[in-house]
Amino acid sequence: MSDKKAQLTVDGVDGNIEMPVLSGTLGPDVVDVSSLTGKGLFTYDPGFVSTAACESKITFIDGAKGQLLHRGYPIEQLAEKSDYLETCYLLMNGELPNAEQKKEYVDTIMSHTMVHESIVNFFKGFRYDAHPMAMMCGVVGALASFYHDSLDINDPEHREISAHRLIAKMPTLAAMCYKHSKGQPFMYPDNNLGYSENFLHMMFGNPCEQSKIDPVVAKAMDIIFLLHADHEQNASTSTVRLAGSSGANPFACISSGIAALWGPAHGGANEAVLNMLQEIGDESRIDEFVKRAKDKNDPFRLMGFGHRVYKNFDPRSRVMQGICDEVLGAMGAENDPLLRIAKKLEKIALEDEYFVEKKLYPNVDFYSGIIMKAIGIPTDMFTVIFATGRTAGWIAHWNEMISNPYKIGRPRQLYTGYTQRDYVPLGQR
Ligand code: SDX
Repeated sequence: MSDKKAQLTVDGVDGNIEMPVLSGTLGPDVVDVSSLTGKGLFTYDPGFVSTAACESKITFIDGAKGQLLHRGYPIEQLAEKSDYLETCYLLMNGELPNAEQKKEYVDTIMSHTMVHESIVNFFKGFRYDAHPMAMMCGVVGALASFYHDSLDINDPEHREISAHRLIAKMPTLAAMCYKHSKGQPFMYPDNNLGYSENFLHMMFGNPCEQSKIDPVVAKAMDIIFLLHADHEQNASTSTVRLAGSSGANPFACISSGIAALWGPAHGGANEAVLNMLQEIGDESRIDEFVKRAKDKNDPFRLMGFGHRVYKNFDPRSRVMQGICDEVLGAMGAENDPLLRIAKKLEKIALEDEYFVEKKLYPNVDFYSGIIMKAIGIPTDMFTVIFATGRTAGWIAHWNEMISNPYKIGRPRQLYTGYTQRDYVPLGQR
């Protein structure tokens, strides 16, 4: 922290308002404006562009540099040297595990992969064409109905077992969404497999034959989960924190995060990128779409481009592009037409003054969908994959908030509605 101060003078308010300025270990200082209410003032910041909603030690982003750190470790190093479950441990506990801690954590997670058999009945209630994100919102929230013995959010052990259950069961539920849509039998987890290998087994395996999982694809899947694990106070993580601030149970909070992630401006962008590339259809039409993206009167935006924080490359998109080339090469799909369109689109956009001036670069969603499509994951499952990976970050932020003193989140507003007026009887309207 620091002893810096901010001075504010406001017309109509007597005297100077002095506010503390707090410094973190990295990133901008923050002005503590909590005293303004006592002066009859609120701050006004729609979209929270300039608002630090909390203190956190989990993830740091420098948007200008295109830097992303998880507990101080650069995402590029974690993607190259770590794996998803080790990153889950890091996000939750603050340190990389030693060999014994890692084995115990992986064994714990892999021993919680099954869901209660009654969950099968939940899926029977969904139409065959239900969007997987609609199903995930429902079944993840419903998990709370099976764990009445461990929902005391003030008990660290209950918080830990809930975190383990959520990280362990998200892939199982995600695969159930896919199998439901295909009309195929649900696959039970195989706890002898790795986390991401097991997910692919539950997605693409069937009871009639032994699963054959390509190790290149399993590694790519694991890195995709890792790259999506956490990203500071994004919309869905902020939703989880806000839901958690009321004391709601962790399953309800994660379900609220899934709902917020679904939007095309956020986690739904990977699905929207694929739909956009398919709509473009041919490299000859790229200029037409870039023109539309720049037209203020056209609501179309280049999906997978731009970011609230990154005004440089999203470091995750660079790693994702590398995996893209590797997976498509392994699948013999290096000439995938959508990949060709994506690469040409990226080149054109990065050289276009509109995108340069507004500092719009490819984000994490730009290439992820092409990889997932090559793996055989349908477009409507892309955001479910994002949610599965992001569960680690959501639950780490939830736990960080609940483990420290917190208040219920309750923003105020700038009211511009009617001043007080009297009721008008029906006969006089
Ligand atoms: C994720 O927050 C996170 O960390 C999110 C995330 C995570 O890991 O949790 O990183 C995941 O959500 C990535 C973003 C995925 N969304 C998309 O790819 C959808 C397309 N992108 C845009 O919708 C947009 O860039 C946002 C929503 C991502 C960011 O929007 P902002 O911060 O509100 O920025 P803005 O809309 O104010 O844009 C600034 C300007 C605007 O023009 P002006 O009004 O200043 O003239 O840039 C323009 C925008 O119109 N712009 C775009 C654009 N993105 C911004 N123009 C065309 N195409 C785009 N993609």
